[in-house]
Amino acid sequence: MFTPRTTDPTHCHQGITESYFCLSGSISEHDVGVYAPGSLILNRPDHPHRITANEREPALLADAWVGHPEKLPTQKMTFSRQPRR
Ligand SMILES: [Fe+2]
Repeated sequence: MFTPRTTDPTHCHQGITESYFCLSGSISEHDVGVYAPGSLILNRPDHPHRITANEREPALLADAWVGHPEKLPTQKMTFSRQPRR
């Protein structure tokens, strides 16, 4: 669940394909396009992506990772910049 205007910062998943299925609300990826309920976004392994929720309503997404069984348990999100302190 993303509250309005929430952004999942730019990151990638090493060796993992990630898919987002929009269940309610709407989102954009890299501020390009609007993905309404029923939309599917597919991010290939190592592909940087940033998800932002609509500014007026929350967005509910189903998220799935697919990859080699050895990579899934140890998977970490790799951010393009360090968190603010
Ligand atoms: Fe991701």
